[in-house]
Amino acid sequence: MNPYEKKRRWKFFLLVFAIVIGTASVFYSDFFVKKMEREEQLQFQLYVRVTEQSLIMYDNDIYTPLIELIRTKTKLPVIMTDSKGEIIGTQGLDSTKTNYNIEKKEGVTYDPAYFRRELRKMKKQHPPTPITGLGADGSRWLIYYKDSPTLTQLRYFPYIQLAVIALFLLTAYVAFSSARKAEQDQVWVGMAKETAHQLGTPISSLMAWVELIKSRFDAEDDPLIAEMENDIKRLEVITDRFSKIGSKPVVEDHVVYTVIYNFVEYFKLRTSDKTRFSITGDDQVRAMLNVPLFDWVIENLLKNAVNAIDNEGKITINIIENLTKEEVFIDVTDTGTGIARSKFDAVFQPGYTTRKRGWGLGLSLTKRIIENYHSGQIFVKDSELGKGTTFRIVLKSSITYEPTTNT
Ligand SMILES: Nc1ncnc2c1ncn2[C@@H]1O[C@H](COP(=O)(O)OP(=O)(O)OP(=O)(O)O)[C@@H](O)[C@H]1O
Ligand SMILES: [Mg+2]
Repeated sequence: MNPYEKKRRWKFFLLVFAIVIGTASVFYSDFFVKKMEREEQLQFQLYVRVTEQSLIMYDNDIYTPLIELIRTKTKLPVIMTDSKGEIIGTQGLDSTKTNYNIEKKEGVTYDPAYFRRELRKMKKQHPPTPITGLGADGSRWLIYYKDSPTLTQLRYFPYIQLAVIALFLLTAYVAFSSARKAEQDQVWVGMAKETAHQLGTPISSLMAWVELIKSRFDAEDDPLIAEMENDIKRLEVITDRFSKIGSKPVVEDHVVYTVIYNFVEYFKLRTSDKTRFSITGDDQVRAMLNVPLFDWVIENLLKNAVNAIDNEGKITINIIENLTKEEVFIDVTDTGTGIARSKFDAVFQPGYTTRKRGWGLGLSLTKRIIENYHSGQIFVKDSELGKGTTFRIVLKSSITYEPTTNT
């Protein structure tokens, strides 16, 4: 299993695990909420009965302590209204929190608006219980109640818990992925620097050896020597690319078409005749480029296109200027095997390859060069299995820069 498949499985497993924990926690809290709701209902009924009895019997010696007892135990907020719906008594409510619109009544701080609001809340939560057997006029007093603060908190608890867990997971994910990215950066840059450094010495020796062979065997015009020199030049280009990846490269103003044309001319000679190349579109638009690194990008894209083409095929590079956004699009299209839509992002991950002898590094390097060194973008614009693929590079056009040279 490749590392990305493994990572995906882990992500899936963790997601399922999180959903299971979340659901279990919601269900468990819901079970408690229901249980408490039933208990509070019973307590309320008890409170109503005791109040009723106290009003009928006028025996405050017994009932006042009883009511006190129930109230201290349950802490249920309760409001009693008369037959006209006016509030005549409250319990378990606190008016000190809302001390606007305060009237002084017999030395007690009283806030009618607060109690009316509380009554509205109670009406929404539970039906009232009437107190029966009062007076001959048949007046009906009603007692309302709402959930205790503990029950209300318990109702919100699972959601707060889920939000905290989600926030924690998100923070952990962001921290880990940025740490991983920083680590990857360090490996890329370190490897590139080391490679450039290690190649440097043998290449200088090779150059010296070739000069020596030329003079010793009088082989100035020997075609074999010319080939050797070409290969050494190629090694120098490779070293130069690696050293640029390992440092902050300089970007300069260039005509995009010319840079691509020069590279394609070179690349064509090293590819089978069955693949045709063409460069179309705007041949004037300019962009800020580092040529050795940009060549590497085009080389990776062309190599992949050639690999995707089975036998005969065509590779087109189309250069488009997007004036409104001051951008340049470079579309590299092939008539190869195509990429499944679900793999449009995966192809850029290091290590992703479908080739027997591929490393899966080409596109991830390409993406780094475009994003980190050219502040651009690269993505699969279009692809159809069996028909072909278009990769799009987006670069800032040089219009936004003041060109220093007129090349
Ligand atoms: N033009 C294309 N058409 C179809 N598939 C492509 C194309 N370009 C890339 N791919 C797919 O993306 C994969 C990753 O490409 P990438 O260049 O990163 O690695 P690679 O070519 O497999 O190996 P290497 O490290 O040698 O470049 C390829 O193996 C291939 O499956
Ligand atoms: Mg490749």
